Amino acid sequence: MTAHVIVLANEKGGTGKSTTAIHIGVALALAGRRTALIDLDGRQRTATRYLENRWHHGQRHGLALPAPDVAVVSDGNAAVDELALRFDQAGVLDFIIVDSPGRDSALARAAMARADTLVTPINDSFVDFDLIGEVDGETFAVTKPSFYAELVWEARTRRARDQGKKMDWVVLRNRLSAIDARNKQRVGSALDSLSARIGFRVLPGLSERVIYREFFPRGLTLLDRAALPEFSLSHVAARSELRALIAGLNLPGSIELAA
Ligand SMILES: Nc1ncnc2c1ncn2[C@@H]1O[C@H](COP(=O)(O)OP(=O)(O)O)[C@@H](O)[C@H]1O
Ligand SMILES: [Mg+2]
Repeated sequence: MTAHVIVLANEKGGTGKSTTAIHIGVALALAGRRTALIDLDGRQRTATRYLENRWHHGQRHGLALPAPDVAVVSDGNAAVDELALRFDQAGVLDFIIVDSPGRDSALARAAMARADTLVTPINDSFVDFDLIGEVDGETFAVTKPSFYAELVWEARTRRARDQGKKMDWVVLRNRLSAIDARNKQRVGSALDSLSARIGFRVLPGLSERVIYREFFPRGLTLLDRAALPEFSLSHVAARSELRALIAGLNLPGSIELAA
């Protein structure tokens, strides 16, 4: 048995890779699945810092806050080998989550090649969309896939050929806002047309909420209901969003999250 590998990647910063990685990781840990997180962003270490904050918060308040184990693998000569070693030693895990930095590197490509599920969060903007597809300025119709889509396509084809393994590519529409309906609709139809052409799935991700930014110093997530001082209606909506995201990922085994 080998762990199911979920890689969060997009050659762009600020699309919510680390925030989403943490929420998926904590959800899986809460559901009792043996999960580890590999942080490839040795410079920002957002995911690592988040989980360190979580540990400290739990200690300070006597709270049990389940979390994935975390390890940083930074760029460098031996980084790709070190990453491979971590994957190979992972026989006892159910899931490995990899949080990639927002740039191309040998390390990011090596991780992508191991992805059973590749999650690419994008913000609802044609600036983000441009990484995966080009769009006509008059009609907003997709003219062709961009370099990142080609990179994924190659990694996927190689993986199928060399290892006989599939890669489920999920483009996550992250930080969706309630306003801006016209842009949302345009980006949505461009995504649908490109998805049919190059074979990714589109999932709604986390919507834009201040709470995602405020959680970091305590390392909390929306799923830590007992640790949250107050629980509002907006929390309830956000939680159901998160559960829909986990369900939409179609991960192996059933992921039971308490209501
Ligand atoms: N759903 C969201 N709503 C509001 N802010 C968010 C959301 N997701 C991420 N952010 C904020 O956006 C910034 C970038 O998020 P981060 O997860 O670090 O992205 P990345 O890892 O792709 O660079 C951070 O300030 C984070 O708190
Ligand atoms: Mg990050």
